[in-house]
Amino acid sequence: MANPSVPNPSDGSASRFRILFLGDVVGEPGRKAVLFALRRLKEELSIDFVIINGENSAGGRGITPRISIGLLRAGAAVVTTGDHVWDQNEIVDYIGTEPRLLRPLNYPTGAPGQGSIVLESAKTKVAVVNVQGRTFMNNALENPFTAMEKEVARLREETPVIFVDMHAETTSEKIAMGRMLDGKVSAVIGTHTHVQTADEQVFPGGTAFLCDAGMCGPTESILGRTIDPIVNRFRSNMPQRFPVARGDVRLCGACIEIDPATGKATHIERVSRLVTCDNGEWKMEGQPLRYAGAEDANEEEE
Ligand SMILES: [Fe+2]
Ligand SMILES: [Fe+2]
Repeated sequence: MANPSVPNPSDGSASRFRILFLGDVVGEPGRKAVLFALRRLKEELSIDFVIINGENSAGGRGITPRISIGLLRAGAAVVTTGDHVWDQNEIVDYIGTEPRLLRPLNYPTGAPGQGSIVLESAKTKVAVVNVQGRTFMNNALENPFTAMEKEVARLREETPVIFVDMHAETTSEKIAMGRMLDGKVSAVIGTHTHVQTADEQVFPGGTAFLCDAGMCGPTESILGRTIDPIVNRFRSNMPQRFPVARGDVRLCGACIEIDPATGKATHIERVSRLVTCDNGEWKMEGQPLRYAGAEDANEEEE
């Protein structure tokens, strides 16, 4: 049987625009797995455009300019973030110089950086927006719903192909954003909770939705962090350090197929791939991988 995730030229899907989105990259293990696996994933899934959430890519806390450059050079078209965006001090001055690195849209006016970008790609013009929810989030920003109504109306004057990374804690807030934007954007994909949900669907208006993409981080962990300190924290209520875990990484995200003429999604599927490294040999689901990053991006940055 043909693989349903790969475009079949006879049904017109070859002209469709295929986005790969990868959820929160956690620390060095997540980064390395992404840099090794991205080329293979792009080939296998016939991907036109890659978006990666990098909010935990620097030792689990934020992102550095160097890591952002590494992800972009390795094949990401846009890097999104979330509530951890400012955790690394250097990013505050850097973000204004790199429009492909987004912070949540709903920061107050005057915040560094921007929450959206429109890029030309070979098949279509595509907009990417990063927005943050407010329910159970420490840093409550401006109302994401009214902010998105305004922003999507503005972006639709440029292109109907719009991808939204909705960084939020609760399923209800993410679903509400997806439903509000149904028919107005191509996809709303949730991030932040690091656990992939199984509710992928295309809403009636043509918006692809997934409550949470999941993370790109170590499997033997709690949300990418070493297990024991987190358990101890819950058990004892005493402060702990939460180092990034080690070992095999699961890359989680989604692949969305869009009709570029209308901006409507025609298909969404979850992506979940195990990346292992044994004696320096990197593999995804048993297949050897070639490194896609610059050499220096392979160094420690914890
Ligand atoms: Fe995260
Ligand atoms: Fe987050």
